[in-house]
Amino acid sequence: MKKTFLLSLIIFASAIGYQCTRPAQNTATTVKYPNQDSELALLMREMETESIAMREAIAKGQEPKDVRTRFEAILTAKSTEASMKTPAFQAMAKNYLKTLDAIYTTPQAERMEQYNLMINDCMNCHKAQCPGPLVRIKKLTAQK
Ligand code: HEC
Repeated sequence: MKKTFLLSLIIFASAIGYQCTRPAQNTATTVKYPNQDSELALLMREMETESIAMREAIAKGQEPKDVRTRFEAILTAKSTEASMKTPAFQAMAKNYLKTLDAIYTTPQAERMEQYNLMINDCMNCHKAQCPGPLVRIKKLTAQK
């Protein structure tokens, strides 16, 4: 009985865009990744991991791994709900891809600033479309 209730809660929550409505993801009692992982959600997790690696590389004065082609998939990846991919989403995704691209052409000395501009574009889209992971994304910002 209790289990069934919990299960239907989880199903209901994913139906309304679970990832985007939860304020935090690391509570021990919550399921970290509900089973319906959309292409976009999987891509976002990769974007998060690669951002951390990128920040590390830039901090060490190394060339960050080129993820530009890979992350163009943001424009086509299927989201949990079709309604997430609005024209505004596409416009903000293109902004993100532009600031990402600029990281590779910016001189090393200014790269960390450019990296922060990219994280800012992550946050701009999330403020508008998917506030759930905002706290998590803000932590990706590099301190000067
Ligand atoms: C153009 C809008 C947009 C941009 C730019 C964007 N996101 Fe997202 N993000 C979304 C949407 C919409 C979802 C929900 C995806 C879904 O549920 O299908 C999401 C989901 C996520 C999630 C949760 C994934 C999960 O289900 O566990 C994380 C973490 C995330 N984004 C991090 C980032 C990071 C880091 C960046 C920048 C490197 C970024 N996002 C840029 C719109 C965006």
